[in-house]
Amino acid sequence: MVLKELQNIFHIELDAIYGQHEVDSLFYLCTEYYLNIARIQLTLEPELAITKPETETFFKALEHLKQQQPIQYLLGETEFYGLPFKVNENVLIPRPETEELVDLIIKGHSQQNKVSKLKILDIGTGSGCIAISLVKNLPNAKVYALDISKEALKVAKQNAKLNNVEITFIEANIIEVAENSSLWEDVASREKGFLFDVIVSNPPYVRNLEKQEIKPNVLDNEPHLALFVDDDNPLVFYKAITDFAINNLKPKGHLYFEINQYLGEDTKQLLVDAKFKDVELLKDLNGNDRMLKGEKI
Ligand SMILES: C[S@@+](CC[C@H](N)C(=O)[O-])C[C@H]1O[C@@H](n2cnc3c(N)ncnc32)[C@H](O)[C@@H]1O
Repeated sequence: MVLKELQNIFHIELDAIYGQHEVDSLFYLCTEYYLNIARIQLTLEPELAITKPETETFFKALEHLKQQQPIQYLLGETEFYGLPFKVNENVLIPRPETEELVDLIIKGHSQQNKVSKLKILDIGTGSGCIAISLVKNLPNAKVYALDISKEALKVAKQNAKLNNVEITFIEANIIEVAENSSLWEDVASREKGFLFDVIVSNPPYVRNLEKQEIKPNVLDNEPHLALFVDDDNPLVFYKAITDFAINNLKPKGHLYFEINQYLGEDTKQLLVDAKFKDVELLKDLNGNDRMLKGEKI
């Protein structure tokens, strides 16, 4: 079948769901992934044809896209901070806002990392996107990554291998660990007594009451364990991680969070109350309160 014809079928079937522009992007992602054919090649060779089995692969993808399954899960991979990441339904698909958080940390700690080997902990690592892009760009750093989900940690370990970096992975529930410091000593027993220079987290932060704002492709496909918190205690992870950071950051160590845009001031107040200094709420490229940082005194 001629690829251009196939592209037309994608438009007929999917434009109403995704819009024309997005459908082109989805189609080109498929041609790159399944056929290793770049967008430019398609433009230069409009009569380019593919075999029957290849066509069938596209029709299968089309069916999944019609059901609004995220293309990243379909292809099993995505890109984050210029690096490749495997993803499946056990991990959140890394978001551009999170790249901004990573960028903030890299810019803030590059110099420091040249003179001392930074110890960094990423809490709720999911695909490992934060931990892996940090160690890739702060090559001296020793990075630890924690998640409650065994299945997510499997993906993160695969991604560490794929990107050729060393990370120490920890399976733990941060809420329990924050409440009971002897638990942390158990999980981190091999490295007893050390403190971190940087703790970072993009924890679950979407309230159930915000569900109507979430697109069906996210709601139906991405892990709810990674996304949702109770309406009546939406900062549960921020509170636990701040408590944990008080005990496990070095003096002058830094805490970084990705946050719920609607809860910026409340989340900031948590750090202020915990006597962090230079607490700063930062906006993402869309102008929403999205990042929070503070320094332990
Ligand atoms: C919003 S996702 C962030 C994933 C990844 N860091 C990112 O930025 O794309 C939150 C992660 O926290 C993990 N998580 C949820 N509850 C947890 C808990 N109690 N303790 C540790 N991790 C938890 C989830 O499994 C999920 O991977």
